[in-house]
Amino acid sequence: MTSAPKGTYSITTPIYYVNAAPHLGTAYTTIAADVVARYQRMNGYDVAFVTGMDEHGQKVADVAADKGMTAQDWCDSMEAPFRDAWEMLDISYTDFVRTTEPRHARSVRTFWQDLYDKGYLYKGSYEGWYCVHEETYYAESDLEKNEEGAFVCPDCKRPVQLMASGEENWFFKLSDFQDELLALYEKRPEFIRPETRRNEIVSFVSSGLKDLSISRSTFDWGVPLPFDEGHVAYVWADALIAYLTGIGYADDAASGGPGERAGEFERRWPMQYHFVGKDITRFHCVIWPAMLMAAGLPVAHTVFGHGFLLTKGEKMSKSKGNALRPADLCDIFGVDAYRYYFMSDVQFGADGSISMERMVQVYNADLANTWGNLVSRVTNMTKKYFDAVVPVPPADAAATRDNPLREMVDALYVAYDEALALVDFTAAVAAVQKLAGRVNLYVEDAAPWNLAKDETKAGELAAVIYNALEAIRVIALYLAPFMPNTSAEVYRRLGLGDVFALDDIERAAQWGGLPAGNAVEVGDPLFPRLDVEAISIEME
Ligand code: MSP
Repeated sequence: MTSAPKGTYSITTPIYYVNAAPHLGTAYTTIAADVVARYQRMNGYDVAFVTGMDEHGQKVADVAADKGMTAQDWCDSMEAPFRDAWEMLDISYTDFVRTTEPRHARSVRTFWQDLYDKGYLYKGSYEGWYCVHEETYYAESDLEKNEEGAFVCPDCKRPVQLMASGEENWFFKLSDFQDELLALYEKRPEFIRPETRRNEIVSFVSSGLKDLSISRSTFDWGVPLPFDEGHVAYVWADALIAYLTGIGYADDAASGGPGERAGEFERRWPMQYHFVGKDITRFHCVIWPAMLMAAGLPVAHTVFGHGFLLTKGEKMSKSKGNALRPADLCDIFGVDAYRYYFMSDVQFGADGSISMERMVQVYNADLANTWGNLVSRVTNMTKKYFDAVVPVPPADAAATRDNPLREMVDALYVAYDEALALVDFTAAVAAVQKLAGRVNLYVEDAAPWNLAKDETKAGELAAVIYNALEAIRVIALYLAPFMPNTSAEVYRRLGLGDVFALDDIERAAQWGGLPAGNAVEVGDPLFPRLDVEAISIEME
């Protein structure tokens, strides 16, 4: 079932600082983006999914120095942990941008040269506060004080540095864009989601914007600016441009690139979604669109600022020592269940408390007892009553048409697609799980074990088993973006081909897609039950 691509669909995760290995927080954004990438591919879009590593700036330079390594060596050593984590989690990214790559330096230099040429940059001196951990400038009025009375960062509570005057920086005329930004938020409310983030940004921009220092000359771990080689780009003035690099901006002839990705940037820009955490929405909803406006480029359709994962009420982070490794959870639950839990139990956009108890509870209820059990039950019955072959549903249409499962399946695409277009993962999963629950009930009510005892009920038995298997096929299809391995396995057990080769999920999900006569395999339980008492890792 192949058809011409519907068009392009481009999404990004943040590019992650390489001061630490990936943890549950960074994996969370990345999994969310992956669900969307997989779904939109199954919808027929030509998807670009950009992720990568943010390697420049003071924070990374400091970590490298602490480790006694050059910054470049340190960054190089972090590529494998990131790529390995994403491979383990089945992340289907299409480009992995490292900001130390020559192609990215070309993007950064081309971009800022353009803004320089257009008159959006000027030289000045910045006097104020900077937090290296957040790589952010703060006004004194934003700062907090610690117990000793010293100024600390309002976000991470670490001491801030005073940047003294005398250092000349290049400034971007961010303040010129206040009206245009407010007009954008007004005209395109979907530009910032969810609504709470939008309100924060509107009030922040309404209160006035200051110009932004975008270069440093007392520090050299960054991309030198082409119009003033003694200055390197401020880490955010470098990192945001990775979104352009990831879809071929630097490879276009326009930026002096080799041209092997010629035309790609034009096809893929603007993007559909930038997925970011709520701590970095300002950079993505204020600075980034202003940079693009200055460059004459359209902005993304939506910046989605999701919430934080909390353990015992606190944001998880490496520095607090409460950051669990994704690999630990994958060992216990398996990759698919890991992905499923974070996408279904934490409402995307809100903060969500996670705990081992809750994870086990969701795993047992939704995966072991509902989805996994349904697959085992129905494939076992197919083996028992039909020699493990999909039965032919009776020609007598009443048995197949007038069936509650078909009605639910017919209505499911719209609900599921609407939820996923809005990245309401919880709602998408709930709609599918409702069907799984209904199939279990249907089997219970129809009692195939009784029908099997009565020869006159053979047609009815075939209809019940066919309907249940067909509903299982549709559930596997819709859960595929969330749990790619399980769905691929269910497809295999039903004698079907590669679920990810489909490019028209709506058509594939239409009732009746399962061919009678296919060999069905029973296999091991997809999700063996877990006992929380037997799990030794503490989530704190
Ligand atoms: N390098 C910048 C992003 C540049 S994008 C052009 C950066 N990197 S980061 O490594 O700090 O990654 C942060 C991302 O992970 C953010 O989106 C942040 O919100 C997310 N998370 C970090 N801890 C988190 C939780 N505990 N929960 C959910 N997400 C969190 O910022």
